[in-house]
Amino acid sequence: MKLRKLGRSGVLVSELGLGTMTFGGPVDEATSHRLLDQFVGEGGNLVDTSNVYASGRSEEIIGRWLSRQDRSRVVLATKARFRTADGANDLGLSRKHLLHAVRESLRRLQTDYLDLLQVHAWDPLTPLEETFGTLHRLTEDGAIRYVGVSNYRAWQFERALQLCRARGWHEPVSLQPQYSLVARATEFELVPMCLAENIALLPWSPLAGGFLSGKYRQGVRSSPAGTRFGDSKDLEFYAKRFENERAARIVDAVRNVASEAGRAPSQVALNWLLARPAVTSPILGVRTPDQLTENVGATGWSLTEAQLAALSRASELDVTYPYDQRAEDQQTSDRRLE
Ligand SMILES: NC(=O)c1ccc[n+]([C@@H]2O[C@H](COP(=O)([O-])OP(=O)(O)OC[C@H]3O[C@@H](n4cnc5c(N)ncnc54)[C@H](OP(=O)(O)O)[C@@H]3O)[C@@H](O)[C@H]2O)c1
Repeated sequence: MKLRKLGRSGVLVSELGLGTMTFGGPVDEATSHRLLDQFVGEGGNLVDTSNVYASGRSEEIIGRWLSRQDRSRVVLATKARFRTADGANDLGLSRKHLLHAVRESLRRLQTDYLDLLQVHAWDPLTPLEETFGTLHRLTEDGAIRYVGVSNYRAWQFERALQLCRARGWHEPVSLQPQYSLVARATEFELVPMCLAENIALLPWSPLAGGFLSGKYRQGVRSSPAGTRFGDSKDLEFYAKRFENERAARIVDAVRNVASEAGRAPSQVALNWLLARPAVTSPILGVRTPDQLTENVGATGWSLTEAQLAALSRASELDVTYPYDQRAEDQQTSDRRLE
């Protein structure tokens, strides 16, 4: 795997990250450790977790692995914001909860610093000054190396960025949004913002939870056990999302390009994402070592321009103002200078 810069920071991350949302859930500890070893063996260094994955067990499993590694080789990313217990302040981005969450993550991960602490989502109750002032101090104190953000809208990210600039605080360097052939609304505001501000873009669910692997041939509603959708208590949520004309068109295009390119559908979907503007490192989710082998095989080659265009066409979203072509022309036209 190649390395890419984490936005404007000086740190280098692998072009694919390893997500660990399944660790301590469908993936047991021994397999999790095997996946981590395999990922690092393939040249990966970016490991993404959160303080709420499997109620903290994901971090604990990574911690037991990390204690046997050269810590400096791993770029360890976690998150804070979602509920960790049932008290009134056991969630959110207040100074109180953030400091507690970071202390607990460090304990579970058996490390004295986090490379990237991402706020997991917007907190409408806490002033941005309180959140980003706390993140600045955590960076100064050495508990975290970089600040990142997940699931913000562009105006929220930009507001946080401008606040940090005005105060001379450490700025967020990365954004982790959902982004895949299925989820392309990220391109409306977030991608242009990442390009303009040189923010690292770390897509989550790059295979739309496994849908883009093309394995749900009988339809999402008949997903077998042992798959993300088949094991879900909310199959209806996935059925709504994926049993429609656009999703069928996308997965058909992925399958067609895969057979033309002689690659697996997952590799095609990931290769498309790797080629998109602003994308730094898609965060993989895997259940088995074979899936990891297949997905890492998305790197080191490129789809042709025609194949990329076919996938982009099949996954186009219906857009209206201000994201349609007419508004785009207004933004970019320079007729005054003609
Ligand atoms: N910031 C956030 O709010 C947020 C939200 C979600 C995720 N994340 C991060 O993003 C990571 C990835 O998300 P995700 O797990 O949804 O990613 P994904 O790549 O879209 O889906 C991963 C799932 O797809 C299936 N799969 C993967 N490779 C496959 C292959 N080659 N063939 C067949 N099936 C395959 C596996 O599920 P089955 O085998 O079980 O079907 C796997 O668990 C997470 O681990 C987490 O770190 C962040």
